[in-house]
Amino acid sequence: MEPRHILSAKDFDLKLLDRLFRAANRFKNENPSKLLAGTFTLELFWEPSTRTQVSFARAVSLLGGDYFNLSRENSSLTKGETFSDTIRILSNDADAIIIRHPARGIVAKVTKYASVPLINAGDGTNEHPTQALLDIYTMQMKLGSLDGLTIALVGDLRNGRTIHSLVYLLSLYSNVTILCVSPPKLGLPEDVETYVDERGRTAIGATTLNTALRTADVVYITRLQKERLPEGYTAEDYPILTPELLSESKRHDRPLIMHPLPRVDEISADVDDDDLRAIYFQQAANGVPVRMAVLAYIFRKI
Ligand code: NCD
Repeated sequence: MEPRHILSAKDFDLKLLDRLFRAANRFKNENPSKLLAGTFTLELFWEPSTRTQVSFARAVSLLGGDYFNLSRENSSLTKGETFSDTIRILSNDADAIIIRHPARGIVAKVTKYASVPLINAGDGTNEHPTQALLDIYTMQMKLGSLDGLTIALVGDLRNGRTIHSLVYLLSLYSNVTILCVSPPKLGLPEDVETYVDERGRTAIGATTLNTALRTADVVYITRLQKERLPEGYTAEDYPILTPELLSESKRHDRPLIMHPLPRVDEISADVDDDDLRAIYFQQAANGVPVRMAVLAYIFRKI
């Protein structure tokens, strides 16, 4: 049987999202602690990670599985082993492998060496599909159906991989409008925009943060991906959300403010007190049940 890999948000359809979100709802309320009993999951986080790494570890452990985190420094990569060989070998010892890696597309590339499911937990500037799952799950939890909503994406849309995966998932819904707010040269990559245009359901446009705050249902803010910028690039006019700006919105409960985190200074800390709109910490907390659902899915338990 072919392993169920999680590589790209492009691989999902609404039916699968529904299946995963139902499972996530269930895992929030009850704990089927033995579902992954006897399984061994490897985490290869070869780029920094706080939330994704810990929430996957927590998700495995709540489902009764075992896991191990193999750091880049302690792996044979330091002796010159190729990533393909590493995956081939680890496939023998693990039942699933969760990978974060700086190289775009590497997780999909090494599937041919993997006899067990691989999960893409962020591959360079490319994608971060499980983050997008928890983002959509959070939007649905707060707003019900996504059809017809306006979602503003703010910040470094070029290099932020969570944005790319989120856009792919948003393109599954009917009549979603995506408004982009980005500094020069940090707009959505052309291939991402083309993909959405070809699906024909989603309108994409550009706007300012002020207008987004007045018109969008959700404003999804991201940090500048400093580590991925060309040397010497300085981002001028990077959008920053303050309580003063937020007070320009027309409703006290809209737009919802989301962020994949880590937040640096693009959302001022005073915004955190806006209980109805600042939902980024609730969003992060949904990482565990959604990743439990993803694990249950790849292990064919749902
Ligand atoms: C994101 C990532 O790693 O892409 N973090 C996360 O997993 N929530 C966002 C980021 O680093 O800016």
